[in-house]
Amino acid sequence: MNAVKTVAVTGGTRGVGLGIARALLAAGHRVAVCGTDPERIERVRAELPDEALVMAADVTDRDQVQRFWDAGCELLGPIDIWINNAGISHDRERAWALSAVTSQAVVETNLLGAIHGCAVAIAGMAAGGGVHTDAEGSSSDLLGTLLCGEPQTFNVAELDALAIGWADDYLSGTPTSEFYPDESFRRVAAAPGEQILRPY
Ligand SMILES: NC(=O)c1ccc[n+]([C@@H]2O[C@H](COP(=O)([O-])OP(=O)(O)OC[C@H]3O[C@@H](n4cnc5c(N)ncnc54)[C@H](OP(=O)(O)O)[C@@H]3O)[C@@H](O)[C@H]2O)c1
Repeated sequence: MNAVKTVAVTGGTRGVGLGIARALLAAGHRVAVCGTDPERIERVRAELPDEALVMAADVTDRDQVQRFWDAGCELLGPIDIWINNAGISHDRERAWALSAVTSQAVVETNLLGAIHGCAVAIAGMAAGGGVHTDAEGSSSDLLGTLLCGEPQTFNVAELDALAIGWADDYLSGTPTSEFYPDESFRRVAAAPGEQILRPY
């Protein structure tokens, strides 16, 4: 087993996030997950080992994200890896066909939530030491390169293709099977061992 890491996964109470949490716990790492649905949180708390932190935190609220970070550090030790996973997988409609309520929720959760997560995690890691990993594109600036290393060409290319492909799918409402590893069109498989990026 590699060195034990402490990993926080937002939206880790079902789907891909829960799959990540299960895989990390099975590999011996320390894991914290959050979500918003109280019943689901209770179910996941009952399923995961007692050492795991499972708590309510809404990523659209920076104070709650901060509390998730603080609780994770207090219970598990300094967080090494932060995964902004929480998101809303809305119906595959054209963007303008989504209701106003859904559009707002998607932007607040998927965009603002990720920004809050980055703000809290990067500030916490800067204050407490540790490292963070970002999916960097070829536009990474000098500071990003110094902190995170040189972006690997093949990973950048994969990320570019996925980001553009998913954006096209979002706008057109037409899922493209090659962008989803299990080819189910609606869900990326949460199976441990699935890899989109190649390691280097
Ligand atoms: N599956 C795909 O095909 C696909 C494709 C592209 C991108 N993604 C992205 O990958 C991520 C995971 O997808 P998934 O299919 O596993 O989604 P999912 O099954 O719907 O799970 C979403 C998770 O996020 C949590 N969540 C939602 N809103 C939240 C909020 N405001 N604060 C905190 N937690 C919140 C949910 O818990 P609660 O309901 O309890 O809040 C749940 O644990 C999402 O960001 C999604 O947009 C997925």
